[in-house]
Amino acid sequence: MLQDLPVWLAHFRSQAAHPRQVPTTLDDTLTGRERRLIAASIATFQLGESSDGAQLRAAVRRHCAAQAEHPFVEIFALFIAEEQRHARLLGEFMQDHEIPEIRHAVTDRAFRRLRHCGGLESRLRLLVTAEIIGIVYYRALEVVTDCRRLQILCRTLVADELVHVAFESQVLLALRTHRPGVAKLLSAGEQCLLTAASLAVWLTHRRVLKSAGYGPLLFLRDCRSQYAFYRKWPPALRQPRSRHQDARPLSPHGS
Ligand SMILES: [Fe+2]
Ligand SMILES: [Fe+2]
Repeated sequence: MLQDLPVWLAHFRSQAAHPRQVPTTLDDTLTGRERRLIAASIATFQLGESSDGAQLRAAVRRHCAAQAEHPFVEIFALFIAEEQRHARLLGEFMQDHEIPEIRHAVTDRAFRRLRHCGGLESRLRLLVTAEIIGIVYYRALEVVTDCRRLQILCRTLVADELVHVAFESQVLLALRTHRPGVAKLLSAGEQCLLTAASLAVWLTHRRVLKSAGYGPLLFLRDCRSQYAFYRKWPPALRQPRSRHQDARPLSPHGS
């Protein structure tokens, strides 16, 4: 992980310089039925993407307190900007189809409240959970429409979110505790959070998700599969590290 930080920094810089585009020539027809089906749901996800990232920035600053030039500061700033770009892309689509933006949503409020708790690690645990669910949701949203612009928009978001989840998973792996009891407890807490959040999202977005063929259990299973792939990386991919290394803040040079 430590030696990967320059790679992640290069990735996020490259993404900022050359963001994935949704071609403007795509068919942009959204039928009245599709609009009614997705309006409230897409507005909730647009709200979720539009955080100013202040809490995350503060957590990153606290984590890197002793290293003002730590690459995390720039990586997370670019990451937050990318999420805000998602909000803009969704907002522009909504505006073009006269779907009003919303300012409050129950699930969004719950996630924002939880994000106020703990340090960088607990914030990342929440974030990665929300992003994993978002990936499954955007894939479902793509399925329920014939609007090419929305389909490609969903694929663009999923492509970005997959990289976000991989990045966050690596950081969490590097920050992990080596106390087995605590690690077990944290993992159980994360599984509970994923289950509760997945079911809450299914309930609040069930019209879209049912239309894509998802019942609550299938949706939960897909969210868990994504979780298992990223958060339980096979041991072969885990770099051997000493306890001494893991106790220190992440550094770009591994020193
Ligand atoms: Fe996003
Ligand atoms: Fe993301």
